[in-house]
Amino acid sequence: MVATPAHLRSAAVALGNDEVLRIRNDFPILQQRVNGKELVYLDSGATSQNPLSVLEAEQEFYEQRNSAVHRGAHHLAVEATEAFEDARETVAAFVGAEPDELIWTSNATEGLNLLTYSFLNASLPGAGAEAARFALAPGDELVVTEMEHHANLIPWQELAVRTGAVLKFIPVDDAGALDLEAAAAIIGPRTRVLAFTHASNVLGTINPVAALVGLARSAGALVVLDACQSVPHLPLDVKALGVDFAVFSGHKMLAPTGIGALYGRSELLNSLPPFLTGGSMITTVTMERAGFLPSPQRFEAGTQRISQAVALAAAVNYLSETGMDRIHAWEAELGQRLVQGLSAIPGIRVLGPAAGQERIGLAAFDVAGVHAHDVGQFLDSRGIAVRVGHHCAQPLHRRLGLTATTRASTYLYNTTDDVDAFLNAVADVRAYFHA
Ligand SMILES: Cc1ncc(COP(=O)(O)O)c(C=O)c1O
Repeated sequence: MVATPAHLRSAAVALGNDEVLRIRNDFPILQQRVNGKELVYLDSGATSQNPLSVLEAEQEFYEQRNSAVHRGAHHLAVEATEAFEDARETVAAFVGAEPDELIWTSNATEGLNLLTYSFLNASLPGAGAEAARFALAPGDELVVTEMEHHANLIPWQELAVRTGAVLKFIPVDDAGALDLEAAAAIIGPRTRVLAFTHASNVLGTINPVAALVGLARSAGALVVLDACQSVPHLPLDVKALGVDFAVFSGHKMLAPTGIGALYGRSELLNSLPPFLTGGSMITTVTMERAGFLPSPQRFEAGTQRISQAVALAAAVNYLSETGMDRIHAWEAELGQRLVQGLSAIPGIRVLGPAAGQERIGLAAFDVAGVHAHDVGQFLDSRGIAVRVGHHCAQPLHRRLGLTATTRASTYLYNTTDDVDAFLNAVADVRAYFHA
């Protein structure tokens, strides 16, 4: 077993292989064989698998409670509303937020688009005095980083184009860390928003949130955190982090697709103009105008993803019962094992922090002379599922001189045997392709 360096060890007792094997029994999809081999699922960074309790929660909702929420006076409508709002309470508490600060979205991408379109609405004539604090003018600056997933880049690009704001970015150094000196120079009096990822889906880097929030605060800028790769994997408290907004996706944290959340400080959400308008988000409507409810309904126009929200709460319960600190500690071990093992294979270039440096439990790498898609297919022939391509981070790959990489990403149901099977297969790739 590869030892985790002392400074990376969590006070929590990490999960161990025996416990992980028990956990795995809760995941029906992981019991299958692929290409005649036991499935080794190392693609949770893209999407995670669902335990039975999550599948059952969604089915139970449809069998027992299915109804529209917030409007019916009948029994099922009351039950559905309770289940929906209980789910909000559970998921909000999981990230340290109040229920009215958690808005359901389809995924993180929608959460970020909701925000940027709401900022755009605030910048349009007639947005009203309350919205003025979000209005952008030509020359205002939006700051992102060079390691962003496209989901936390393109919406800001579009917002900049539409408002005349200027988009700037904090560069990444060769070791896969943000250049904080550059960040201090870039974030200034014209910065209105700093949006960055908590953990990189390519590099595995965990960004220094406190330092970045400090820079944004001294410039009077709002902070938006892409928590897609952190909420599923480590204990997180949005209030302790001090961010203004955060987004995450349910399907990366044991829940079904189609559900995610946007966190926002209550005071901000209640003056931010809505993005989508229509039913369920209004106070009074005349033929000319409409008044809007406070958050969260203000941002939840139309019939919501009710069963998915219930299932996400079941996923959160599963994670909490296992212990986020223990999951984090285990994945840190798996991440180190991945990096150490990959770094020892000739012809492999691992991206991001070197072995012994903090990272989440994933590693993306380049195999000299073999295209990432060929690597992925070779691994699949051994029953190993990984992700290949640019992982929705083309600018980052360009910065690193690459077009595509292969990424292995772990979760609470992966054992050290999974990592070893993967490493053994990667060791054979170059010989197989005569590279
Ligand atoms: C860091 C990061 N941000 C955003 C996203 C977008 O997530 P979704 O496609 O669920 O909206 C991902 C998904 O891979 C991600 O890893």
